[in-house]
Amino acid sequence: MATHKLLLLPGDGIGPEIMAQAKNVIGWLNAQGGDQFECEEDLVGGSAYDAHGQSISEAAMERAMAADAVLFGAVGGPKWDSVAYEARPEAGLLRLRKDLQLFANLRPAICYPALADSSSLKHEVVEGLDILIIRELTGGVYFGEPKEIIDIGNGQKRGIDTQVYDTFEIERIARIAFELARTRGNKVTSTEKRNVMKSGVLWNEVVTQIGAREYSDVTLDHMLADACAMQLVRWPKQFDVILCDNLFGDMLSDVAAMLTGSLGMLPSASLGAPDATSGKRKALYEPVHGSAPDIAGTGAANPIAMIASLGMCLRYSFNMIDMADRVDAAISAALDKGLRTPDILSEGKTKVGTTEMGAAILAELNAAQ
Ligand code: IPM
Ligand code: MG
Repeated sequence: MATHKLLLLPGDGIGPEIMAQAKNVIGWLNAQGGDQFECEEDLVGGSAYDAHGQSISEAAMERAMAADAVLFGAVGGPKWDSVAYEARPEAGLLRLRKDLQLFANLRPAICYPALADSSSLKHEVVEGLDILIIRELTGGVYFGEPKEIIDIGNGQKRGIDTQVYDTFEIERIARIAFELARTRGNKVTSTEKRNVMKSGVLWNEVVTQIGAREYSDVTLDHMLADACAMQLVRWPKQFDVILCDNLFGDMLSDVAAMLTGSLGMLPSASLGAPDATSGKRKALYEPVHGSAPDIAGTGAANPIAMIASLGMCLRYSFNMIDMADRVDAAISAALDKGLRTPDILSEGKTKVGTTEMGAAILAELNAAQ
């Protein structure tokens, strides 16, 4: 029986509230007598800034490096709006992604049957939806240099961000998309803006080559990123795996989230390359939604994306497929009972808060023994 070390970084806003529900599920997992989880906890984002003057401390970074996986809540809020750019809450998350080299971000958008009516799109457009967005996470315009605001005289300034991708960065994320497509619908749609961006031309070329050379059994389509946004809301079920760079993946995954009923439903996994000797990947799991400062402390946050992120952690870091399936099934069962946090509430359903939803999912895990 293995023991796994988890670092919990609840963060700001609703982060600690939803993490508390994930912790209950970890307690349940430990009580099953199988693999055990040892948890450490630390600060990130605005709460880390308040304590240490930086959005993640060196000690927390060391703990993240040493952990088998990191569970992350959410960061940010109006309280830290005027904090220096380098110390803003989001910088803590970006540093974790960069230093742990978590280049592959997996964002599944699954429409649970019970929620097909909560989406802003028609029932038949989203019912049974199951797509996987693969977002490149450590390159592109979010990290490219130069990144600065310079003075160009005459009272004018210039803001500069640099979109840059090297062949190896495109190759490794493309391989992740092709590999995962083979375990699902066997189709990859690669997105870029090759009509206006050089990095898009290279992206298209490299993905095409990898596809032809190593994955000729997988169907590969290319779509301009703006057209993909349109197709996502027109007929999302045409997609299986969508491959995107960092910026387009950020946008398209928020669009995809709404197809599932609420941003509160989307989990994510951020993975590094397997270690040459141990074969283990560094990994961080987080909900796609943010810290929702407007509802923080009201007990209304939806804990499902956080709990489903823990499910992804079981699946991708520890190969605990059966347990991961059970967590997903428990979420589905709690929804089938008609329980809804405010973000997914529809007529005739029972409105519950964060702790009640968490408790209902735990009850389903126990009932399914
Ligand atoms: C996301 C978020 C982050 C991003 C922010 C919080 C830095 O929007 O994970 O999608 O832009 O990547
Ligand atoms: Mg985003």
